[in-house]
Amino acid sequence: MAPLGRGRSVRGTEKGKNRVSKDKGTGRRTLVAGNWKMNLNHLEAIALVQKIAFDLKPAELETVEVVVIPPFTDLRSVQTLVDGDKLALGYGGQDLSPHGSGAHTGDISGPLLAKLGCSYVVVGHSERRADHHEDDAQVAAKAKAAYAAGITPILCVGEVEEIRAAGTHVEHVLGQLAGSLAGITAEQAATIVIAYEPVWAIGTGRTASAQDAQDMCAAVRGQLARLYGDEVAAGIRVLYGGSVKAANAGELFTMPDVDGGLVGGASLVAEEFVGIVRSGPPA
Ligand code: PGA
Repeated sequence: MAPLGRGRSVRGTEKGKNRVSKDKGTGRRTLVAGNWKMNLNHLEAIALVQKIAFDLKPAELETVEVVVIPPFTDLRSVQTLVDGDKLALGYGGQDLSPHGSGAHTGDISGPLLAKLGCSYVVVGHSERRADHHEDDAQVAAKAKAAYAAGITPILCVGEVEEIRAAGTHVEHVLGQLAGSLAGITAEQAATIVIAYEPVWAIGTGRTASAQDAQDMCAAVRGQLARLYGDEVAAGIRVLYGGSVKAANAGELFTMPDVDGGLVGGASLVAEEFVGIVRSGPPA
C-alpha cells in the first residue's frame, strides 16, 4: 500500500498516461478528513471505521487521502484496527496541548498522540476558538507543538456571519491565518493542511457556494505565497469545511484551490462520508 503522503499523483507514470489527472493538475492529493467532534465511543468508532474501510476500494483510498479524527478516547481502538487490518486510512486528534508534557490536567500532548500513530491533529477549530477562547497565538503554539511531535496540523480559519455580512471576511481570515502561522517555518508549512471553515456554515446545513469557497481558498493560498513563497504555497492543501455532504462535495472539490474537505456531521454516517470521498477525483 502506498504511503498516505501528500501530493501523490499518477501523472507521468505509465498508469497515468491518457487518464484524467487525479489532482486537477495541481500535484495536491485530495484529502477528506472526518471531524467527529464529541461523538461516538470507542466501540462505535470501531464499527464506523470498519464500515468506511470496507466500503471504499483500494483504488479510491489511493486517489483520495481519507482521515478520521475521533475523540481522544477512541484513538487507541482506531489505531489497533488500522494497524491490525492494515487499513489505508489515516487518523488524528482534534486538539493538542502547546506543551510537550507536565502539569496540565485534562490536556493531551503531541507526543501522546504521536505514540498512538496519529498523523494529523486539528488546531484552531472555531469551536475551540469559541468554547476555549483560543486565539491565534495559542493556535500557532499548538501548530508548533504538533510539528515538534512529528504530527501534521490541520489548521482551521474562518469568519463568523457578522464579519461576512460586513464584507471584511477575506482580510479577517488572512489575518487569522498569518497569526496562527506565526513562527512556523517554510519547511514546516510545506506539509501543513489549512481548512477554511466559515463559522456560519458549520453544522448549520448552509454551505458556502462553491465559488465562495474557491475565492477564499485562493485568497488563503495567496497569503501562504506571501508568507512562504509561491512554490510552498502551491503544494499546501487547502480544505473547505462547513456542512459538506455527499450532495455538495463534488462541486466544491472540483474548484481549483479546494483540495478536499473537513467534514463534521456527515462524517458520522458511513454512507455519507464514503459518498464525499467518492466526490473527489475518480479512482
Ligand atoms: P459540519 O462541521 O460539517 O458539521 O458543518 C465541519 C467542521 O466543523 O469541521
